[in-house]
Amino acid sequence: MAFSSAAPKFTVRRRPAVLVVPVAPTPRELKRLSIFDEQDSLRVQISNIHFYRRNNSMGGKDPVRVIREALAKALVLYYPFAGRLREHDGCKLAVDCTGEGVLFVEADADVCLEYFGDPLLPPFPCIEELIFDVPGSSAILNAPLLLFQVTRLACGGFILAVRANHTMADAQGVMQFLGAVAELARGAQALSVLPVWKRELLEGRNQQQPVMLHDKLTEAKASSIMLPLDNAALRLRSFFFGPREIAAIRAQLTPHLQKRATKFDSIAGWIWKFRTVALAPEPNEVMMLVVAVNARGRTTATAGIPIGYYGNAFALPVAMSTARELCTKSLSYAIELVKKAKNQVDMEYMRSTADLIVLRRGQCTRITTGMYSLSDATRARFEHLDFGWGKSVYGGPAEAVGNPSNPWLTSFLLATKNANGEDGIIVPMCLPGPAMDRLVGEMSKLLAYQPM
Ligand SMILES: *[C@@H]1O[C@H](CO)[C@@H](O)[C@H](O)[C@H]1NC(C)=O
Ligand SMILES: *[C@@H]1O[C@H](CO)[C@@H](O)[C@H](O)[C@H]1NC(C)=O
Repeated sequence: MAFSSAAPKFTVRRRPAVLVVPVAPTPRELKRLSIFDEQDSLRVQISNIHFYRRNNSMGGKDPVRVIREALAKALVLYYPFAGRLREHDGCKLAVDCTGEGVLFVEADADVCLEYFGDPLLPPFPCIEELIFDVPGSSAILNAPLLLFQVTRLACGGFILAVRANHTMADAQGVMQFLGAVAELARGAQALSVLPVWKRELLEGRNQQQPVMLHDKLTEAKASSIMLPLDNAALRLRSFFFGPREIAAIRAQLTPHLQKRATKFDSIAGWIWKFRTVALAPEPNEVMMLVVAVNARGRTTATAGIPIGYYGNAFALPVAMSTARELCTKSLSYAIELVKKAKNQVDMEYMRSTADLIVLRRGQCTRITTGMYSLSDATRARFEHLDFGWGKSVYGGPAEAVGNPSNPWLTSFLLATKNANGEDGIIVPMCLPGPAMDRLVGEMSKLLAYQPM
């Protein structure tokens, strides 16, 4: 379902897509993906988008050319992206490093940056024009693994949109690759981070039973009775968490948590609790908050995920509570559960998750309204990507919601500024109208909160 605003359409002139290949010969080999990469849920595209202002110090350089040339150079070290995925032994995947290249579309739009909103945040009008789905480029095994579109704007700014097949990389991994393209675009002779493949690091241990208890998710699912929310009745709205909102949340926590709750913990705990209050489910309903946790920062350099690893390396630990407890207990209760879920993630947890993925292959996941998932897109630092034109005005996910078929299920935390230029985090959310009104009410209460 599309939440794009009804702004009038603009005209985009696109040149036919071309394949960009590595500038130098690359090894022809078959590279296996990890058990994490192979998950069915990741056989989708992830798209991000970056908006740049005109920059006079660039002296009229053409962003299309600069980015296309840097891309061809970056593909020398990141040559698996220029290959094609193959399936083997049933559900296993490998990249055939054929060097065939990635898709690149050059475009011009007859509008200025301001057209896309101020502040710039998803949903963006006519996003499908900015990341055009080139016929034949998706949903087939033999497709290019990346699609780039660079759109010049009438004001001298430009937009870079990148679509990647999630099986190859997570958001952090895509960002690492784009960081390499940006460094080369700025004239670097060598990359500051070299790509590391090593997907075998995230193999399981071939045990019959995973030792850790993340089976909870399955048990809870079996008990869930609520039906998924009706997409047609959903409204999209974004909630801003700046210094004032964070301070108001922290002021309500136990002294212990006031020191330990990160911005993410505070926002995630608040949203989980008050989204539940707003939805008003059966008190016995099990509410599950799935938190995307990047394992890179949580493993040691010697026994963990090495710097430069660009495959999928995130876990999805779950915080669980009955709706009754979540609604009636303090905010500290929710935030403690979020912290506890996150803190489980280390290398051992990743290996046991790999075992679990293998055990559950072929079983489908049942989605209920008790589930909700948050993904911190501020961590990938998309907005820092500089191709020579300075930092982007917005850099991050191209869509406001993470899961188009269940838009209420996944929200991103996005880095932004509010109308007063304050830095903060914005969370676009989808809820049925009445629940959305209640959540807006809770947000006003938060801002009116006066510590005793
Ligand atoms: C992504 O790659 C996987 C594995 O080859 C494939 O099954 C899937 O169709 C691709 N997804 C899209 C949307 O292209
Ligand atoms: C123009 O680009 C330079 C070099 O990347 C950067 O330092 C500067 O901030 C940019 N200016 C604007 C207005 O973005």
